[in-house]
Amino acid sequence: MTKNLGGTTALVTGATSGIGEAAAVRLAELGASVIVHGRSAERGAAVVKEIQSAGGQARFLAADLGDPDQVRRLAEEAGEVDILVNNAGVFKFLPTVEVDDATFSLHIDTNLRAPFLLVKHLAPGMAARGSGAVVNVSTFGASVPVNRGGIYSASKAGLELLTLVWADEFGPSGVRVNAVSVGPTKTPGAAEFGELVQQLGENSFALGRAAEATEIAETIAYLASPAASIVNGAILQAHGGLKAVTLPG
Ligand SMILES: NC(=O)c1ccc[n+]([C@@H]2O[C@H](COP(=O)([O-])OP(=O)(O)OC[C@H]3O[C@@H](n4cnc5c(N)ncnc54)[C@H](OP(=O)(O)O)[C@@H]3O)[C@@H](O)[C@H]2O)c1
Repeated sequence: MTKNLGGTTALVTGATSGIGEAAAVRLAELGASVIVHGRSAERGAAVVKEIQSAGGQARFLAADLGDPDQVRRLAEEAGEVDILVNNAGVFKFLPTVEVDDATFSLHIDTNLRAPFLLVKHLAPGMAARGSGAVVNVSTFGASVPVNRGGIYSASKAGLELLTLVWADEFGPSGVRVNAVSVGPTKTPGAAEFGELVQQLGENSFALGRAAEATEIAETIAYLASPAASIVNGAILQAHGGLKAVTLPG
């Protein structure tokens, strides 16, 4: 295996579960020293151990991304970061009339403000060093209407728009900013919805199945790696392809 991320430090938010955990493991396999972020110190320690047992480098940092002061502290404690994966996210599916202020804020604060603050505080360091990569984890729902997914999808649509803005803002300094548009993926978080994730994959996507977290991790690792050296401002669709709208008749 080519360790093409050797000598880099990667911060992966929400790396205590699902896609973030798989991404942390993959980036470490490729040689990055990984900062495993999450809230659960217990699961964070388990992911660090998993990486270290395989010969990789990792440490855990805790922060609640809903709290802007904790996000700023995370950026400070992380120090010099070459690869930032804004993966941590919350997803609640509710009709608009049932979205209260707390639910609205939870999505905007965690899915939009936290990545914004991390880029604000970490991308200038990457730019000063002349290289870096940011990968934002989004959802297919940011570009197509998803029933009951309004506020979740809107928070990710904002993140996709910021991806384009940051690609232009930091690109001239050698920092690439991209996003992955993720479809239904088997993770502990998605398991909360039971069979729905598998059924959504089967019924709404051309490949006809839900993704494994490791498949999304591979896409994240590609965007973070020198292999994607000309890729900037891309929203890479990693969901198996949307099924076409069927014409009547
Ligand atoms: N799975 C899917 O089908 C799917 C589809 C499209 C997009 N996505 C996106 O992919 C990303 C990862 O999803 P997943 O399915 O892997 O989720 P998951 O299994 O629920 O894991 C979520 C991660 O985010 C962290 N997190 C959540 N809220 C946090 C907060 N306030 N502060 C700090 N950390 C927080 C959790 O950390 P702790 O548990 O340690 O607090 C956990 O590590 C999300 O952005 C999600 O929107 C997932």
